[in-house]
Amino acid sequence: MPAALTASQRRRLIAAARKAAAAAYAPYSRFPVGAAVLMADGRVFSGCNVENASFGLTNCAERTAVFSAVAAGSRRLRAVAVFTPTPAPTLPCGACRQVLHEFGPEAQVLSVCAGAGQVETPLAALLPHAFGPGDL
Ligand code: THU
Repeated sequence: MPAALTASQRRRLIAAARKAAAAAYAPYSRFPVGAAVLMADGRVFSGCNVENASFGLTNCAERTAVFSAVAAGSRRLRAVAVFTPTPAPTLPCGACRQVLHEFGPEAQVLSVCAGAGQVETPLAALLPHAFGPGDL
């Protein structure tokens, strides 16, 4: 069981996720999303959604953030914060849950939005009975 996030880690992650949304490339959906990941080594990486004229090639903010961390040599995910431009918080899509599971099966997921409210839940509650590296 990883240690609970501190209030300052939460604040830092949420601020990074909100800021990352400003860089979103979302001309088709007009739905800018930002994400930030806290890694076990203490580093924070952020990402935004990156859409494509061939819509199915879109990369969600959460995956952009995770891929940035991995590309920088950081692989153990402790927590992810997601910001969506919605009145209520929303949680990562199924594809992103699977990618988050690969690097942080015990990660915490925080969701914040343009409106009020915040959700925090373990990833394991969002992706029960997950398929992962140990199944191969
Ligand atoms: N999107 C994300 O980046 N993360 C989420 O958690 C939900 C969806 C993106 C994908 C697409 O660019 C846009 O939001 C609308 O689905």
